[in-house]
Amino acid sequence: MKRVAIITSSDTGYRGEREDLSGPAIREIVEKNGYEVVSEDVLPDDRKMLSERMAEIADSGTAELILTTGGTGFSPRDITPEATEDIIDRRVPGIPEAMRAYSMTITKRAMLSRSTAGIRKKTLIINLPGSPKAVKESLEYIIDALGHGIEIMT
Ligand code: MTE
Repeated sequence: MKRVAIITSSDTGYRGEREDLSGPAIREIVEKNGYEVVSEDVLPDDRKMLSERMAEIADSGTAELILTTGGTGFSPRDITPEATEDIIDRRVPGIPEAMRAYSMTITKRAMLSRSTAGIRKKTLIINLPGSPKAVKESLEYIIDALGHGIEIMT
């Protein structure tokens, strides 16, 4: 079974001031598509904490896929793409390109997501935008294609 780790990047979620609805939105979609969720973290928008957690999951081989949500926009604290780029071995530009291209047919604001994707060892890491709506629109569009990529990566 393909294993997925979910990381929500949110200062207010981390402080317990806002309920994380995007992590559960990811869980629902991946489970429908035959993935097992192995961990769910809510972390602050902190470059080091995010990159260290992603690297830990990849290096321990506990998940073939890491999906992050949030922190991809223009707010001063948004840092998820940089945290991801800090620890990936290879970039996978086609995935965020596809998410933005499709999402722009729904809202032009999709161009404001700076999300990235890449591979560290045998783990694919993909940034999704922060809202449950954006998660659903982006993830449902790409998920069918991921299985083949994960298969040849591992
Ligand atoms: N993508 C989809 N599919 N649907 C959306 O509603 N919202 C956009 C964009 N991507 C959106 C989307 C908006 S308004 C922003 S600001 C960026 O994602 C970044 O969001 P984030 O900072 O929560 O990651």
